[in-house]
Amino acid sequence: MLDDIATILFHEQTILRRLDELAAEITRDYSDKELTVVAVLNGSFMFMADLLRRVPLPLRVDCISVSSYHGGTESTGTVTFDQLTLPDIEGRHVLILDDILDSGRTLHEISAKLTAEARPKSLRSCVLLRKVKVRAADAVADYVGFDIGDEFVVGYGLDFQERYRNLPFVGVLRRELYAAE
Ligand code: IMP
Ligand code: MG
Repeated sequence: MLDDIATILFHEQTILRRLDELAAEITRDYSDKELTVVAVLNGSFMFMADLLRRVPLPLRVDCISVSSYHGGTESTGTVTFDQLTLPDIEGRHVLILDDILDSGRTLHEISAKLTAEARPKSLRSCVLLRKVKVRAADAVADYVGFDIGDEFVVGYGLDFQERYRNLPFVGVLRRELYAAE
């Protein structure tokens, strides 16, 4: 698995140090509010676990699951919700957690759907990684771990065809592993 990584961008200790800072910001911003976190699976499972254990607030956690890649490395443009019911977040202060902001379609679709159908009191988003690029959809993240270039990364929850999620670091996948597709 390690042979498939071209470069390591963020080692585990670097990620955890950054999560200390992000968690402190979130804790400060929500100290007088009842926070509900909506984590987007599967990509955010490691990020969610490491971030939330650093937030000492009486928060709730819900998870949703969406698909937008369907196995490749380019967003397909359609975002599919894998569950029939949305979490009960009506009137609540909600923070969406996702692994990465790429084209912006996923975050845009989730925000639009939650706002329209689940009526939260407030809605913000937090991503571990944000690709610096022109986005296809209008989406901004309120909390960002790291900005990266427009390259395909895996590890720390992020996958390529469901593999590499368990790597403890974020690294760039070797191009020849997907360029032939
Ligand atoms: P977007 O809808 O294009 O912003 O893509 C968001 C989703 O695509 C993320 O939640 C990831 O699951 C996936 N994704 C985007 N870029 C990468 C990447 O570089 N590596 C792994 N997954 C990615
Ligand atoms: Mg994925």
